[in-house]
Amino acid sequence: MSRSSVYVTRRIPDAGIELLRERLGAVDVNPHDRTLTHGELLEAVRHRDGVLCQLGDRIDAELMDAVGDCRVFSNYAVGYDNIDVAEATRRGIAVCNTPGVLTDTTAELAWALLFAVARRIVEADGFTRAGKFAGWAPMMMLGVDVTGKTLGILGAGRIGTAVALKSKGFGMTVLYADVQPNAILEEQLGARRVDVGTLFSESDFISVHVPLTAETRHLVDEGLLSLMKPTACLINTSRGAVVDEKALVRCLAERRIAGAGLDVFEEEPALSAGLAGLPNVVLTPHIGSATVETRSRMAALAAGNLIAVLEGRRPDHIVNPEVLST
Ligand code: DGY
Repeated sequence: MSRSSVYVTRRIPDAGIELLRERLGAVDVNPHDRTLTHGELLEAVRHRDGVLCQLGDRIDAELMDAVGDCRVFSNYAVGYDNIDVAEATRRGIAVCNTPGVLTDTTAELAWALLFAVARRIVEADGFTRAGKFAGWAPMMMLGVDVTGKTLGILGAGRIGTAVALKSKGFGMTVLYADVQPNAILEEQLGARRVDVGTLFSESDFISVHVPLTAETRHLVDEGLLSLMKPTACLINTSRGAVVDEKALVRCLAERRIAGAGLDVFEEEPALSAGLAGLPNVVLTPHIGSATVETRSRMAALAAGNLIAVLEGRRPDHIVNPEVLST
């Protein structure tokens, strides 16, 4: 059987597959409902011109050797820490991603986690289902208010900005820490740019939105967590390894911080020992962008990026544009 020039490493919404087939003809898609092992991936991508990959695929030099003269890795995600971009650039391979289309969806999940932690929603749901609700009680399931509190945004890019803007209805004081000032947040919310230490010591809710890089790995370490108020909560919808997860487990278990809402984990899909047993965390399985509408938009964007490179056009989103001129 002849191999298509394009490989999709995991089934994505039809919007993407149809676009690829319309423009490029046959496309091979991973037939399994799971991430391929690295060995399977090496074999599957061999001699493809383009690979539409996802964040569970490790796209490293070994894989680039296997794939041969591939022209594009189009990631079905805004984050691309799964791809060795420097190596791809060295080889002249384009790396594309899907920013923009998932901003509000991910920001909504950050808010869902924030409220779930503040108002103990998961615990309360379990309590009610277990038949423990014996009638209204003055001291039952007390959470903390969100309105009027201080929201700290670590990383005020697209998603961090969207999370902050959505706080408008809750009359919050907004602090942010970023390498660059954010005029939108300062003008629209009167947000204050602070250093990371101040962000952690003054905020009631801290939402993490930095990409995972060598500089941000374990940026949120035990030292930073120790600065948090004992009543404060940490929300992470970016990448798990930005937070030292073992240190976080210790802080939560010892109630040095009040709670956490986590959509991402350091060694996904594994959880650090003790995390799942803690009552003061809400855990979701990396579903920040997981809505029908957004995943379709991501599929179309990732497919469009890949097609553009193979057709010799500039893709909508390319991480290493310098390869286009080579
Ligand atoms: C991303 O896009 O990087 C998310 O983590 C998955 O949508």
